[in-house]
This record gives sequence, structure tokens and C-alpha cells, in this order.
Amino acid sequence: MNDFEYHNPTKILFGSNHYTKLHDLISNVATNEKILLTYGGGSIFKNGVHKKVIDQLAGFNVIEFGGIEPNPQFSTLMQAVEICRSENISFVLAVGGGSVIDGTKFIVGAVAYEGDPWEVLERKPGKTFEETLPFGAVLTLPATGSEANSGAVISRSELKTKRTMGGPNLFPQFSLCDPSVVASLPKRQIANGLVDAFVHTLEQYLTYPSGNLLQERQAEAILSTLIEIGPKVIQDPANYELASNLMWCATHALNGNLRCGVPTDWATHMIGHELTALHNIDHARTLAIIGPRLFEALFEQKKEKLEQYGRRVWGLTGDSESVSKQAIQKTEEFYHSLEIPTKISEYVDSERNEPTIIREIFESRGWFKLGERQSVTPELVEKIVAAAL
Ligand code: NZQ
Ligand code: ZN
Repeated sequence: MNDFEYHNPTKILFGSNHYTKLHDLISNVATNEKILLTYGGGSIFKNGVHKKVIDQLAGFNVIEFGGIEPNPQFSTLMQAVEICRSENISFVLAVGGGSVIDGTKFIVGAVAYEGDPWEVLERKPGKTFEETLPFGAVLTLPATGSEANSGAVISRSELKTKRTMGGPNLFPQFSLCDPSVVASLPKRQIANGLVDAFVHTLEQYLTYPSGNLLQERQAEAILSTLIEIGPKVIQDPANYELASNLMWCATHALNGNLRCGVPTDWATHMIGHELTALHNIDHARTLAIIGPRLFEALFEQKKEKLEQYGRRVWGLTGDSESVSKQAIQKTEEFYHSLEIPTKISEYVDSERNEPTIIREIFESRGWFKLGERQSVTPELVEKIVAAAL
């Protein structure tokens, strides 16, 4: 088992009956101080989440900032940063899915940053968000795990780019996770959430045997649960039991627990981000496009874990080679069963030059060695994307 550090300070309040605790959760903010409530395109007004939240904030001076897009945009978030500065905001409450929570992580970091905060996304040496405003979250979409981690992904459409950021001071102080929000989600978003959580788990599991038997079993538990509930929760999103299992799986898939003591991959995500940046394909769908092709390209390196996954999660039998191969097929069939296509051409009228463009982007960023064995080179990325056309 590899050495690891584990620290997750986010308090999770899971269930439908925690809204009344919101006031106390932000009680470290004096009532004369200002809170910024951040949200997305307005779904929180239609499904009643906004009212449930705002009713609990009586007594606080609340300023609202809406319009954070799916794949949150730097330019929009900078408007919120300006509000935080001019209004002297003391606390930010994100109400939404991964995009709103990620966007809020950027906002709370950028407020006190001197200079252009994009430098932090570009990973310029020594550039980090050191001083951050405190923030909490009310989650409305189970998918990313952003409610329980310190990472964020920010887009800049004018540059056709999507970059990651994070840091130990970017965990939400608390996250209210109410599974009943799943009832109002479009089927497409539920399918996205299932696949995002599934691939977060695979990125931390489908590598090589780690000797960390507990983490491997925990990953298998999440994968098996998502397979069991996937099609059912899409059919019946108002079913609280199904929704709560989806939400808890998604949180656990990326709250830092699965990565303890194991090798991790993340190449599927890094390639997928480029497909979103180029074509605006939903995040989870980019993972469904790239993942199976990456497993094929790295078959020799991943075949032991593919076999374990095939036998334990999919119940496959037979010789090692065929179980490992079928495991990839089963994964892709699972995505198809959720009505998620796995070819780029099913989303965009592709110009067929994505493989080269993405290889060049990776080269320009110096990303020469991704994956658990550092064997994912820009040339291999080009081949994986070409196989996904
Ligand atoms: O904007 P509103 O009107 O709220 O509508 C949203 C949006 O259109 C809607 N929605 C959310 N909750 C709803 C709802 N509609 C009805 N009822 C509800 N209860 O769903 C749409 C998508 O929302 P979004 O927040 O974009 O989805 P998701 O949670 O999948 O987040 C995706 C973003 O998270 C990043 C992705 O790259 C992408 O930018 N990720 C963040 C990670 C992290 N912080 O750890 C890890 C992930 O790998 C991922 O990269
Ligand atoms: Zn993801």
C-alpha cells in the first residue's frame, strides 16, 4: 500500500431535513456581514431549492449572483469576484451542481488574489489561491463530488480551454446533500451523473493491483451500486432510495477516500476536458467517449485490474484475457444503456482533426507522461482520440 495523507474537513449533511440548519452552519458570519448566494441558470427557482435555502437565511444580508454556466466560465466568475470585493462579502453559499460549486471555489480563491487569477489555472509556478473566503454548498446534482473535495474545473471559451485547480483551503465548510433534488433533474443529467461518478471510481481503481484491498473493494462497491441503480434511477428519479444511493455514491467517488494508498490514472479526464473545451460536449459524455478507448490502448498495462473488475463487478467468467476484454465491452454497454453514445461523431460533425489538435495541446502544456505509469504520451493521446472518432 502506498503512503498517503487523508484529510477531508467538509461537513456533510445528507438528507431532506437539514435546510433548517443552514443558518447555524454559517453562524460564524455576523448578521450585519454579507453573504453571496451563487447559482446557475435558474433550475433552483423551478424546483423550490432557492426558496428552501433563502427562507433559512433570514437575518443575513444576502446578495444573489446567478448565471454560472455548465462548465463555469472565467469571465462570468470574475463578475462575482468583483461583487465580493466591492460588497465586502464574508461568506459564499453555492447552490447548484458541480459547475456552481466549482465556480464558487474559483470565486472564493480569486477575491484576495493579486494579479490575474487565470495564472493559477495555467499553473504558473508559485501561483496559488492562498487566502480564500469561507464557503458552503447546497448540492443539486449528484455527479462530480465537488461538494466534498477541494478541486474545480474552470473553462474559458474564448481560449477554447478548460483547466483544473485546487488546494487544501478549497473544501466547502459544509455541504447539504438532499437526494430529493434528483426528482427535478432531466434524464440526461442523471445519466451524466452516473457516468461521472463511475469514471471517477475507475480512474482510481483501473490501474494496477495496489495491495490496498479495502480501497479496491470500496471502489467495486461504488461501481456495483451504480450499475444496479443506474437505469432504475433514470426511470424513477423521484424514488428517494434510488436517488440517495446515487448521491452518496457520487460523493464517495471523489471525496478523496478512494485514492488513499492506490495509484491513480486521470488521463481519461484530462483528454475528456479537451473535448468539452473544443465542442462543448457534457463532461461525463467525454469520459464515456475516451474511457473505453483508453482501456484498449493500455490493455497490457491494465489487464490485471480489468480482469479483477470483470470478475468482481460484472460477474464475468472465463480465461483472463477474455474477461479483461469483456470488462471493457460491459463498461461501454453500460454507458449505452444510459443512452450515452461513446463516439465523437455521435455528438459533433467532427472535422476529424481533434486527435492532432489535442496532441498539440498536451505537448504545448508539457503533459508528456500522464496515467498511473506515466505512459500516456501525447502520441498515445492522439491514437486514443483517433480511435474514439
Ligand atoms: O444551471 P442550472 O439552471 O442550475 O441547471 C443545471 C445545468 O443546466 C442543471 N441542474 C442542476 N441541478 C438541477 C438541474 N436541473 C434540474 N434540477 C436540478 N436539481 O444541470 C445542468 C448541469 O449542471 P452542472 O453543474 O454543469 O453539472 P455537473 O454537476 O455535472 O458539473 C459539471 C462540471 O463539474 C466539473 C466538470 O468538468 C463540469 O465543469 N467537474 C468537477 C469536478 C470536481 N470539482 O471535483 C470533478 C469532475 O470530474 C468534473 O470535471
Ligand atoms: Zn468527472
